[in-house]
Amino acid sequence: MSTVLILGATSDIGMAIARKFASRKFDIQLAARKPEQLQPLQSDISIRFGRSCSIHAFDALNYGSHASFFNSLVPRPDITICVFGILDEEELAFDNWTIAERMINTNYTGAVSILNIAAKYYISQHDGTIIGISSVAGDRGRASKLIYASAKAAFTTYLAGLRNKCFREKVHVMTVQPGFVYSKMTENQPLPKPITSTPAEVADIIYKAYGKKKNIVYVKWFWRYIMLIIKNIPEFQFKKMKL
Ligand SMILES: NC(=O)c1ccc[n+]([C@@H]2O[C@H](COP(=O)([O-])OP(=O)(O)OC[C@H]3O[C@@H](n4cnc5c(N)ncnc54)[C@H](OP(=O)(O)O)[C@@H]3O)[C@@H](O)[C@H]2O)c1
Repeated sequence: MSTVLILGATSDIGMAIARKFASRKFDIQLAARKPEQLQPLQSDISIRFGRSCSIHAFDALNYGSHASFFNSLVPRPDITICVFGILDEEELAFDNWTIAERMINTNYTGAVSILNIAAKYYISQHDGTIIGISSVAGDRGRASKLIYASAKAAFTTYLAGLRNKCFREKVHVMTVQPGFVYSKMTENQPLPKPITSTPAEVADIIYKAYGKKKNIVYVKWFWRYIMLIIKNIPEFQFKKMKL
């Protein structure tokens, strides 16, 4: 019986991942900064899939609580999935350091803090999986996603380093690179339907990629090629573009 910990379980993508893994007979640990909001999901998982599903308080920005949070989990999870993240208004973040700092710390520092702890535990067990939800935005910096993209770029780089660090210890680290996804984060943005995923599609792709022990997975697959083209635009041209 394997257990999956979902960090940021109130997120639309996190809830879809919880349902997907529960439907495949995994027990679920839901962790979020507003745990009281997780009760409907907990009941749904317990009733529909008959799996054990527990709720835990977790704040990505409360670094000092991360070790006791992880060590108090019974059982310790076999898979830790880091889903939380924030996308604030970039112009506000450019003007206001408090907003920029929160975006950097949620998308990067908080993720590193908790995943270092999970990774040390998995290394001691010579077993375990870490899955990090980053973003294609981190593949190249641009004006309209100045702070968010740079924090996600740092997170993507951290996951690559962690994968390298953990490989010989039989710990698998998977990076998930979603493009556009319909969720609370993007509800005010007009998204192009053909290249936008639903949270359920993201969860399906993550589950399949986990089974195949993929290192990096783009959601949907063509985002890898979209980003390849974007990454190859020469800087002297890219800096003039409105993106
Ligand atoms: N939607 C997209 O187009 C898209 C594209 C690429 C990548 N992503 C990434 O996918 C992940 C999931 O996002 P989503 O689209 O599902 O958006 P979402 O529904 O807005 O979820 C974001 C989640 O992050 C949680 N969170 C924020 N600050 C936190 C903190 N300090 N501690 C713990 N949890 C915190 C939120 O919790 P509360 O419920 O308490 O606010 C919420 O559950 C994020 O990492 C996002 O960057 C999304």
